Amino acid sequence: MKYNSLLVTGGCGFIGSNFIRRTLAQTNARIVNLDKLTYAGNTANVADIAGNPSYSFIHGDICDGRTVHAIIHEHAIDCIVNFAAETHVDRSIANAAPFIATNISGVQILLDEARRANVKRFLQISTDEVYGSQHDGENADEFAPLQCGSPYSASKASADLLCRAYWKTYQFPVVITRCTNNFGPFQHPEKLIPLAISRALAGNEIPVYGDGLQRRDWLYVEDHCEALLTVIEKGIDGEVYNIGTGYQRTNVEVINSLLHATGITAQLIRHVQDRPGHDRLYAVDAAKIHRLGWRQKHSFEQGIVDTVAWYRANGAWMKEILSGEYSQYFAKQYNELQGHGVLEKD
Ligand code: NAD
Ligand code: TYD
Repeated sequence: MKYNSLLVTGGCGFIGSNFIRRTLAQTNARIVNLDKLTYAGNTANVADIAGNPSYSFIHGDICDGRTVHAIIHEHAIDCIVNFAAETHVDRSIANAAPFIATNISGVQILLDEARRANVKRFLQISTDEVYGSQHDGENADEFAPLQCGSPYSASKASADLLCRAYWKTYQFPVVITRCTNNFGPFQHPEKLIPLAISRALAGNEIPVYGDGLQRRDWLYVEDHCEALLTVIEKGIDGEVYNIGTGYQRTNVEVINSLLHATGITAQLIRHVQDRPGHDRLYAVDAAKIHRLGWRQKHSFEQGIVDTVAWYRANGAWMKEILSGEYSQYFAKQYNELQGHGVLEKD
Protein backbone atom coordinates (compact mmCIF):
# COMPACT_ATOMS: atom_id res chain seq x y z
CA MET A 1 0.00 0.00 0.00
CA LYS A 2 1.25 3.46 -0.99
CA TYR A 3 0.08 5.01 2.29
CA ASN A 4 1.44 4.27 5.75
CA SER A 5 -1.12 5.68 8.12
CA LEU A 6 -4.85 5.64 7.40
CA LEU A 7 -7.60 7.47 9.24
CA VAL A 8 -10.75 5.41 8.71
CA THR A 9 -13.88 7.15 9.94
CA GLY A 10 -17.04 5.21 10.74
CA GLY A 11 -14.99 2.03 11.13
CA CYS A 12 -17.40 0.53 13.68
CA GLY A 13 -20.17 0.42 11.08
CA PHE A 14 -20.90 -2.23 8.48
CA ILE A 15 -18.61 -1.42 5.54
CA GLY A 16 -15.93 0.37 7.58
CA SER A 17 -15.38 -2.63 9.88
CA ASN A 18 -15.11 -5.00 6.91
CA PHE A 19 -12.68 -2.59 5.24
CA ILE A 20 -10.43 -2.28 8.30
CA ARG A 21 -10.30 -6.06 8.77
CA ARG A 22 -9.34 -6.60 5.14
CA THR A 23 -6.81 -3.78 4.99
CA LEU A 24 -5.03 -4.98 8.14
CA ALA A 25 -4.87 -8.50 6.69
CA GLN A 26 -3.65 -7.44 3.24
CA THR A 27 -1.36 -4.44 3.81
CA ASN A 28 1.21 -3.02 6.22
CA ALA A 29 -0.72 0.19 6.79
CA ARG A 30 -1.49 1.42 10.32
CA ILE A 31 -5.15 2.31 10.87
CA VAL A 32 -6.83 4.74 13.26
CA ASN A 33 -10.59 4.24 13.46
CA LEU A 34 -12.55 7.37 14.46
CA ASP A 35 -16.17 6.55 15.22
CA LYS A 36 -18.90 8.37 17.11
CA LEU A 37 -20.66 5.11 18.01
CA THR A 38 -24.12 6.23 16.97
CA TYR A 39 -26.88 3.60 17.07
CA ALA A 40 -25.22 2.13 13.93
CA GLY A 41 -21.69 1.96 15.36
CA ASN A 42 -20.86 -1.25 17.18
CA THR A 43 -17.51 -2.08 18.80
CA ALA A 44 -18.42 -5.77 18.45
CA ASN A 45 -17.85 -5.31 14.69
CA VAL A 46 -14.13 -4.77 15.32
CA ALA A 47 -13.68 -6.86 18.48
CA ASP A 48 -11.50 -9.42 16.68
CA ILE A 49 -8.96 -6.78 15.57
CA ALA A 50 -8.95 -4.65 18.73
CA GLY A 51 -5.59 -6.10 19.84
CA ASN A 52 -3.83 -5.69 16.49
CA PRO A 53 -0.75 -3.45 17.05
CA SER A 54 -1.38 -1.68 13.72
CA TYR A 55 -4.91 -0.67 14.81
CA SER A 56 -6.26 1.90 17.24
CA PHE A 57 -9.76 3.13 18.01
CA ILE A 58 -10.79 6.65 18.97
CA HIS A 59 -14.32 7.38 20.10
CA GLY A 60 -15.14 10.73 18.54
CA ASP A 61 -17.07 12.77 16.00
CA ILE A 62 -15.90 13.85 12.53
CA CYS A 63 -17.68 17.16 13.22
CA ASP A 64 -15.16 17.86 16.00
CA GLY A 65 -12.31 19.59 14.15
CA ARG A 66 -9.96 19.54 17.16
CA THR A 67 -10.18 15.79 17.49
CA VAL A 68 -9.66 15.32 13.75
CA HIS A 69 -6.72 17.74 13.79
CA ALA A 70 -5.06 15.96 16.73
CA ILE A 71 -5.44 12.51 15.13
CA ILE A 72 -4.01 13.62 11.78
CA HIS A 73 -0.93 15.12 13.45
CA GLU A 74 -0.33 12.55 16.20
CA HIS A 75 -0.64 9.60 13.82
CA ALA A 76 1.02 11.22 10.77
CA ILE A 77 -2.06 10.38 8.72
CA ASP A 78 -1.38 10.37 4.97
CA CYS A 79 -4.73 8.94 3.78
CA ILE A 80 -8.32 9.38 5.00
CA VAL A 81 -11.13 7.02 4.11
CA ASN A 82 -14.44 8.55 5.12
CA PHE A 83 -17.19 6.02 5.81
CA ALA A 84 -18.71 8.00 8.70
CA ALA A 85 -22.28 8.89 7.87
CA GLU A 86 -25.91 8.62 8.77
CA THR A 87 -26.94 5.97 6.27
CA HIS A 88 -30.58 4.94 6.51
CA VAL A 89 -33.01 6.46 4.00
CA ASP A 90 -36.05 5.86 6.24
CA ARG A 91 -34.42 7.65 9.16
CA SER A 92 -33.52 10.57 6.86
CA ILE A 93 -37.18 10.85 5.90
CA ALA A 94 -38.17 10.95 9.59
CA ASN A 95 -35.47 13.51 10.52
CA ALA A 96 -32.91 14.95 8.12
CA ALA A 97 -30.99 17.01 10.71
CA PRO A 98 -28.29 14.47 11.72
CA PHE A 99 -27.75 13.69 8.02
CA ILE A 100 -26.93 17.32 7.30
CA ALA A 101 -24.63 17.55 10.33
CA THR A 102 -22.53 14.43 9.72
CA ASN A 103 -22.83 13.85 5.99
CA ILE A 104 -22.25 17.47 4.94
CA SER A 105 -20.73 19.54 7.77
CA GLY A 106 -18.68 16.57 8.95
CA VAL A 107 -17.17 16.19 5.49
CA GLN A 108 -16.34 19.90 5.29
CA ILE A 109 -14.54 19.68 8.65
CA LEU A 110 -12.61 16.57 7.60
CA LEU A 111 -11.66 18.18 4.28
CA ASP A 112 -10.42 21.36 5.96
CA GLU A 113 -8.31 19.54 8.54
CA ALA A 114 -6.94 17.14 5.94
CA ARG A 115 -6.09 19.90 3.50
CA ARG A 116 -4.26 21.99 6.09
CA ALA A 117 -2.21 18.95 7.06
CA ASN A 118 -1.39 18.05 3.44
CA VAL A 119 -2.96 14.62 3.62
CA LYS A 120 -2.03 12.84 0.41
CA ARG A 121 -5.29 11.03 -0.38
CA PHE A 122 -8.90 11.57 0.74
CA LEU A 123 -11.38 8.88 -0.26
CA GLN A 124 -15.01 9.90 0.14
CA ILE A 125 -17.36 6.92 0.24
CA SER A 126 -20.48 8.02 -1.59
CA THR A 127 -23.41 6.16 -3.06
CA ASP A 128 -25.15 5.41 -6.35
CA GLU A 129 -28.28 6.91 -4.76
CA VAL A 130 -26.96 10.39 -5.66
CA TYR A 131 -27.95 9.69 -9.30
CA GLY A 132 -31.56 9.03 -8.29
CA SER A 133 -33.85 6.57 -9.99
CA GLN A 134 -32.84 5.28 -13.44
CA HIS A 135 -35.05 4.20 -16.33
CA ASP A 136 -35.08 0.55 -17.29
CA GLY A 137 -31.88 -0.38 -19.13
CA GLU A 138 -30.13 2.86 -18.16
CA ASN A 139 -26.88 2.78 -16.15
CA ALA A 140 -25.65 6.02 -14.62
CA ASP A 141 -22.03 6.75 -15.47
CA GLU A 142 -19.90 9.14 -13.40
CA PHE A 143 -21.16 12.15 -15.41
CA ALA A 144 -24.87 11.39 -14.93
CA PRO A 145 -26.83 14.20 -13.25
CA LEU A 146 -27.30 14.11 -9.49
CA GLN A 147 -31.07 13.67 -9.10
CA CYS A 148 -31.41 12.78 -5.46
CA GLY A 149 -34.65 11.25 -4.22
CA SER A 150 -34.20 11.31 -0.44
CA PRO A 151 -32.72 13.57 2.24
CA TYR A 152 -30.02 10.89 2.68
CA SER A 153 -28.95 10.94 -0.96
CA ALA A 154 -29.14 14.74 -1.06
CA SER A 155 -26.75 14.93 1.89
CA LYS A 156 -24.33 12.51 0.21
CA ALA A 157 -24.47 14.41 -3.08
CA SER A 158 -23.77 17.66 -1.22
CA ALA A 159 -20.64 16.12 0.24
CA ASP A 160 -19.58 14.91 -3.22
CA LEU A 161 -19.90 18.46 -4.53
CA LEU A 162 -17.85 19.81 -1.64
CA CYS A 163 -15.15 17.23 -2.41
CA ARG A 164 -15.16 18.21 -6.05
CA ALA A 165 -14.87 21.88 -5.09
CA TYR A 166 -11.87 21.19 -2.82
CA TRP A 167 -10.15 19.45 -5.72
CA LYS A 168 -10.94 22.26 -8.15
CA THR A 169 -10.17 25.12 -5.76
CA TYR A 170 -7.22 23.81 -3.78
CA GLN A 171 -6.11 20.78 -5.84
CA PHE A 172 -6.73 18.81 -2.65
CA PRO A 173 -6.37 15.14 -3.69
CA VAL A 174 -9.91 13.83 -3.26
CA VAL A 175 -11.28 10.67 -4.86
CA ILE A 176 -14.98 9.75 -4.68
CA THR A 177 -16.47 6.27 -4.98
CA ARG A 178 -20.18 5.66 -5.58
CA CYS A 179 -21.09 2.09 -4.77
CA THR A 180 -24.35 0.23 -5.08
CA ASN A 181 -26.25 -1.52 -2.25
CA ASN A 182 -23.84 -3.54 -0.11
CA PHE A 183 -24.66 -6.73 1.77
CA GLY A 184 -22.73 -9.18 3.92
CA PRO A 185 -21.53 -9.70 7.51
CA PHE A 186 -22.01 -7.01 10.20
CA GLN A 187 -24.77 -5.05 8.43
CA HIS A 188 -27.27 -3.43 10.79
CA PRO A 189 -30.72 -5.10 10.61
CA GLU A 190 -32.44 -1.82 9.70
CA LYS A 191 -31.34 -2.56 6.08
CA LEU A 192 -33.32 -4.90 3.85
CA ILE A 193 -31.12 -8.02 3.67
CA PRO A 194 -30.23 -8.45 7.37
CA LEU A 195 -33.75 -7.34 8.31
CA ALA A 196 -35.22 -10.07 6.13
CA ILE A 197 -32.77 -12.71 7.38
CA SER A 198 -33.34 -11.93 11.05
CA ARG A 199 -37.12 -11.91 10.64
CA ALA A 200 -37.17 -15.06 8.53
CA LEU A 201 -34.97 -17.00 10.98
CA ALA A 202 -37.38 -16.02 13.76
CA GLY A 203 -40.37 -17.07 11.62
CA ASN A 204 -41.63 -13.46 11.41
CA GLU A 205 -43.13 -11.66 8.44
CA ILE A 206 -40.86 -9.47 6.30
CA PRO A 207 -42.14 -5.96 5.54
CA VAL A 208 -41.91 -5.14 1.82
CA TYR A 209 -42.54 -1.54 0.81
CA GLY A 210 -45.23 -1.13 -1.85
CA ASP A 211 -45.20 -3.70 -4.64
CA GLY A 212 -41.62 -4.83 -3.86
CA LEU A 213 -40.62 -4.44 -7.51
CA GLN A 214 -38.09 -1.69 -6.80
CA ARG A 215 -34.67 -2.79 -8.05
CA ARG A 216 -31.19 -2.37 -6.65
CA ASP A 217 -27.74 -3.49 -7.84
CA TRP A 218 -26.25 -5.70 -5.10
CA LEU A 219 -22.56 -5.70 -4.13
CA TYR A 220 -21.03 -8.14 -1.66
CA VAL A 221 -19.16 -6.12 0.96
CA GLU A 222 -15.84 -7.95 0.49
CA ASP A 223 -15.89 -7.11 -3.22
CA HIS A 224 -16.60 -3.50 -2.32
CA CYS A 225 -13.64 -3.37 0.08
CA GLU A 226 -11.38 -4.80 -2.61
CA ALA A 227 -12.61 -2.10 -5.00
CA LEU A 228 -11.83 0.60 -2.42
CA LEU A 229 -8.28 -0.69 -2.00
CA THR A 230 -7.93 -0.58 -5.79
CA VAL A 231 -9.09 3.05 -5.88
CA ILE A 232 -6.80 4.03 -2.99
CA GLU A 233 -3.84 2.59 -4.88
CA LYS A 234 -4.70 3.46 -8.47
CA GLY A 235 -7.45 6.10 -8.47
CA ILE A 236 -6.73 9.47 -10.04
CA ASP A 237 -7.11 12.62 -7.93
CA GLY A 238 -10.33 14.52 -8.55
CA GLU A 239 -12.07 11.54 -10.16
CA VAL A 240 -15.29 9.69 -9.32
CA TYR A 241 -15.53 5.88 -9.58
CA ASN A 242 -18.79 3.95 -9.65
CA ILE A 243 -18.66 0.50 -8.02
CA GLY A 244 -21.39 -1.94 -9.00
CA THR A 245 -21.95 -5.50 -10.15
CA GLY A 246 -24.90 -5.53 -12.55
CA TYR A 247 -26.68 -7.97 -10.16
CA GLN A 248 -29.99 -6.14 -10.40
CA ARG A 249 -32.73 -7.75 -8.32
CA THR A 250 -36.17 -6.62 -7.23
CA ASN A 251 -36.73 -6.56 -3.48
CA VAL A 252 -39.11 -9.52 -3.79
CA GLU A 253 -36.44 -11.47 -5.72
CA VAL A 254 -33.87 -10.66 -3.03
CA ILE A 255 -36.17 -11.93 -0.28
CA ASN A 256 -37.03 -15.08 -2.21
CA SER A 257 -33.29 -15.81 -2.67
CA LEU A 258 -32.77 -15.32 1.06
CA LEU A 259 -35.67 -17.59 1.94
CA HIS A 260 -34.32 -20.21 -0.45
CA ALA A 261 -30.87 -19.99 1.19
CA THR A 262 -32.38 -20.38 4.67
CA GLY A 263 -34.47 -23.36 3.55
CA ILE A 264 -37.63 -21.62 4.79
CA THR A 265 -40.65 -22.41 2.65
CA ALA A 266 -43.29 -20.38 4.52
CA GLN A 267 -44.71 -17.34 2.72
CA LEU A 268 -43.34 -14.53 4.90
CA ILE A 269 -43.57 -11.51 2.57
CA ARG A 270 -45.89 -8.85 3.94
CA HIS A 271 -46.56 -5.83 1.69
CA VAL A 272 -46.75 -2.60 3.71
CA GLN A 273 -47.17 1.07 2.84
CA ASP A 274 -44.48 2.30 0.42
CA ARG A 275 -41.58 4.57 1.40
CA PRO A 276 -42.32 8.21 0.39
CA GLY A 277 -40.38 9.21 -2.74
CA HIS A 278 -39.15 5.62 -3.13
CA ASP A 279 -36.64 5.38 -6.01
CA ARG A 280 -37.57 2.50 -8.34
CA LEU A 281 -34.18 1.59 -9.77
CA TYR A 282 -30.53 2.22 -8.99
CA ALA A 283 -28.08 1.10 -11.66
CA VAL A 284 -24.55 2.25 -12.47
CA ASP A 285 -22.07 1.86 -15.28
CA ALA A 286 -18.93 0.41 -13.64
CA ALA A 287 -16.69 0.44 -16.74
CA LYS A 288 -14.34 3.02 -15.22
CA ILE A 289 -13.38 0.94 -12.18
CA HIS A 290 -13.10 -2.12 -14.41
CA ARG A 291 -10.38 -0.22 -16.24
CA LEU A 292 -8.47 -0.03 -12.94
CA GLY A 293 -8.54 -3.83 -12.94
CA TRP A 294 -11.31 -4.50 -10.39
CA ARG A 295 -14.02 -7.12 -10.88
CA GLN A 296 -16.35 -8.59 -8.26
CA LYS A 297 -15.52 -12.12 -7.17
CA HIS A 298 -18.82 -13.14 -5.58
CA SER A 299 -21.90 -14.03 -7.55
CA PHE A 300 -25.10 -12.63 -6.05
CA GLU A 301 -26.22 -16.14 -5.08
CA GLN A 302 -22.90 -17.01 -3.39
CA GLY A 303 -22.96 -13.72 -1.51
CA ILE A 304 -26.47 -14.49 -0.25
CA VAL A 305 -25.50 -18.01 0.87
CA ASP A 306 -22.42 -16.65 2.71
CA THR A 307 -24.44 -13.84 4.28
CA VAL A 308 -27.18 -16.16 5.55
CA ALA A 309 -24.50 -18.50 6.96
CA TRP A 310 -22.85 -15.58 8.77
CA TYR A 311 -26.09 -14.37 10.35
CA ARG A 312 -26.98 -17.91 11.41
CA ALA A 313 -23.57 -18.30 13.06
CA ASN A 314 -23.76 -14.87 14.75
CA GLY A 315 -27.14 -14.96 16.44
CA ALA A 316 -25.79 -13.32 19.62
CA TRP A 317 -24.51 -10.32 17.62
CA MET A 318 -27.96 -9.85 16.08
CA LYS A 319 -29.84 -10.43 19.35
CA GLU A 320 -27.87 -7.68 21.05
CA ILE A 321 -28.89 -5.16 18.34
CA LEU A 322 -32.49 -6.29 18.17
CA SER A 323 -32.96 -5.81 21.89
CA GLY A 324 -31.56 -2.25 22.02
CA GLU A 325 -32.56 1.09 20.46
CA TYR A 326 -33.57 -0.75 17.33
CA SER A 327 -36.57 -2.46 18.94
CA GLN A 328 -38.21 0.93 19.58
CA TYR A 329 -37.27 2.15 16.09
CA PHE A 330 -38.78 -0.96 14.52
CA ALA A 331 -42.02 -0.73 16.49
CA LYS A 332 -42.49 2.93 15.60
CA GLN A 333 -41.44 2.73 11.95
CA TYR A 334 -43.39 -0.37 11.00
CA ASN A 335 -46.43 0.09 13.17
CA GLU A 336 -46.89 3.48 11.55
CA LEU A 337 -46.68 1.88 8.11
CA GLN A 338 -49.28 -0.69 9.12
CA GLY A 339 -51.52 1.52 11.19
CA HIS A 340 -51.58 -1.14 13.94
CA GLY A 341 -49.16 -3.19 15.99
CA VAL A 342 -48.86 -6.01 13.48
CA LEU A 343 -45.98 -7.67 11.63
CA GLU A 344 -45.54 -10.41 14.15
CA LYS A 345 -45.58 -14.13 13.59
CA ASP A 346 -49.34 -14.50 13.88
P1 NAD B 1 -23.32 2.24 8.90
O1 NAD B 1 -24.54 3.00 9.21
O2 NAD B 1 -23.29 0.77 9.14
O3 NAD B 1 -22.08 2.85 9.74
C1 NAD B 1 -21.84 4.22 9.84
C2 NAD B 1 -20.76 4.40 10.90
O4 NAD B 1 -20.46 5.81 10.98
C3 NAD B 1 -21.20 3.98 12.30
O5 NAD B 1 -20.18 3.22 12.91
C4 NAD B 1 -21.42 5.30 13.03
O6 NAD B 1 -21.21 5.21 14.45
C5 NAD B 1 -20.40 6.19 12.34
N1 NAD B 1 -20.70 7.62 12.43
C6 NAD B 1 -21.90 8.22 12.17
N2 NAD B 1 -21.79 9.55 12.38
C7 NAD B 1 -20.51 9.79 12.74
C8 NAD B 1 -19.79 10.97 13.07
N3 NAD B 1 -20.38 12.18 13.08
N4 NAD B 1 -18.47 10.86 13.40
C9 NAD B 1 -17.87 9.64 13.42
N5 NAD B 1 -18.52 8.48 13.14
C10 NAD B 1 -19.82 8.57 12.79
O7 NAD B 1 -22.94 2.58 7.42
P2 NAD B 1 -22.38 1.67 6.23
O8 NAD B 1 -23.51 0.94 5.63
O9 NAD B 1 -21.19 0.95 6.70
O10 NAD B 1 -21.97 2.81 5.18
C11 NAD B 1 -20.64 3.35 5.20
C12 NAD B 1 -20.55 4.42 4.11
O11 NAD B 1 -20.86 3.85 2.85
C13 NAD B 1 -21.51 5.59 4.31
O12 NAD B 1 -20.84 6.78 3.99
C14 NAD B 1 -22.63 5.31 3.32
O13 NAD B 1 -23.23 6.50 2.88
C15 NAD B 1 -21.88 4.60 2.22
N6 NAD B 1 -22.70 3.66 1.44
C16 NAD B 1 -23.27 2.57 2.03
C17 NAD B 1 -24.00 1.68 1.25
C18 NAD B 1 -24.61 0.44 1.85
O14 NAD B 1 -25.23 -0.33 1.10
N7 NAD B 1 -24.46 0.16 3.13
C19 NAD B 1 -24.18 1.91 -0.12
C20 NAD B 1 -23.63 3.06 -0.68
C21 NAD B 1 -22.86 3.92 0.11
P1 TYD C 1 -32.43 -0.32 2.21
O1 TYD C 1 -31.75 -1.56 2.71
O2 TYD C 1 -33.04 0.60 3.22
O3 TYD C 1 -31.38 0.42 1.28
P2 TYD C 1 -31.62 1.70 0.29
O4 TYD C 1 -32.93 2.31 0.57
O5 TYD C 1 -30.48 2.58 0.68
O6 TYD C 1 -31.52 1.14 -1.10
O7 TYD C 1 -33.58 -0.75 1.21
C1 TYD C 1 -33.32 -1.55 0.07
C2 TYD C 1 -34.63 -1.71 -0.65
O8 TYD C 1 -35.52 -2.47 0.19
C3 TYD C 1 -35.33 -0.39 -0.92
O9 TYD C 1 -36.01 -0.48 -2.18
C4 TYD C 1 -36.35 -0.29 0.20
C5 TYD C 1 -36.72 -1.73 0.46
N1 TYD C 1 -37.12 -2.03 1.84
C6 TYD C 1 -38.32 -2.71 2.07
O10 TYD C 1 -39.07 -3.06 1.14
N2 TYD C 1 -38.67 -2.99 3.37
C7 TYD C 1 -37.90 -2.61 4.42
O11 TYD C 1 -38.30 -2.88 5.58
C8 TYD C 1 -36.67 -1.93 4.17
C9 TYD C 1 -35.79 -1.50 5.29
C10 TYD C 1 -36.32 -1.67 2.85
